[in-house]
Amino acid sequence: MYLRDIWYFALPGETLKRGAMTHKVLLGEPLVVGRTDAGEAFALRDICPHRGVPLSAGQLIGSRESACGEALIECPYHGWRFRADGQCAEIPSLVPGQDMDVSRIRVRRYPVREIQGNIWVYIADEKRADLAPTHEPPRMPDFDDRAPNIRETMVFSCHVDHAVIGLMDPAHGPFVHRSWWWRSRKSIHEKAKAFAPTEMGFAMVEHTPSSNSLAYKILGGAPTTEISFRLPGIRIERIKAGRHRLVGLTSVTPIDEKTTEITQSFYWTMPFLSVFKPVARRFMRSFLGQDRDMVDLQQRGLRFDPRLMLINDSDVQAKWYHRLKSEWDEAVEQGRPFQNPVKPATLRWRS
Ligand code: FES
Ligand SMILES: [Fe+2]
Repeated sequence: MYLRDIWYFALPGETLKRGAMTHKVLLGEPLVVGRTDAGEAFALRDICPHRGVPLSAGQLIGSRESACGEALIECPYHGWRFRADGQCAEIPSLVPGQDMDVSRIRVRRYPVREIQGNIWVYIADEKRADLAPTHEPPRMPDFDDRAPNIRETMVFSCHVDHAVIGLMDPAHGPFVHRSWWWRSRKSIHEKAKAFAPTEMGFAMVEHTPSSNSLAYKILGGAPTTEISFRLPGIRIERIKAGRHRLVGLTSVTPIDEKTTEITQSFYWTMPFLSVFKPVARRFMRSFLGQDRDMVDLQQRGLRFDPRLMLINDSDVQAKWYHRLKSEWDEAVEQGRPFQNPVKPATLRWRS
């Protein structure tokens, strides 16, 4: 099943214009994600409580046109109108005297945060739907309110766990991502990296990246990199080179049991990098595409529900992911603080 009571990356902020609504399935639940004319993003269950029509097929009424001065979502079937917080505001068929307390009708509302161009939605278990989020979504340090310079989204036809594990797995690099500009099979060598627990996951402690990664050299200077993972499926890679910063955010979002969306966003402080955007986009697409093709291939085997293995040390991060998930589940069920089960360790593998 899915991890709940946690923030998921839903969509890039720039894809949602003022006054627009879009239908989006997250964790198998139908959502309408919209932006009011005032610029506020919101998310509601995309099912009208009257007779089940998707609200995303209706209209977003601007705050100047509505009687209450607030933006309202109007269902296309009988015109019931809802506030962005899910409360019903109007039922057009009512005649004077039919006093029905419309404000008692509600559509489930999902908390939303828009940070640095990313729209995050908090998906709690149904029984905790009215509770406030227990934590905040991630923020890239050193980038104020800036949105990413570049991003790319790809759909993997697999369960979220296979996508997350596939992206954190260090041993597939020389086999799946073979290319002249990155690395070749011959470049395999032993690595030892120090890891430490973080608030909601773990991080490969800041280090100087291996010399076989040409892409890092382009940055100039002696760059250092820190790669961190946090639940539910967020990978943040921070590269520092002198006063410059390059941050990659990879978010893995379950759409349903067999569909997972991967969005890769890059933030950078070097203006000259903008020249490389078209090239970077091609690299991102081919790199992520290699992972997707392998995951598609994996599905052919997984159809038969085989037993799988996780070995030391190259699959230890995958083991940690499973442990982090079960601890998260238990902690929310028991209503206690999350206790990170990961202990500091140095992992060794060849890749
Ligand atoms: S189904 Fe939405 S108003 Fe009737
Ligand atoms: Fe990969």
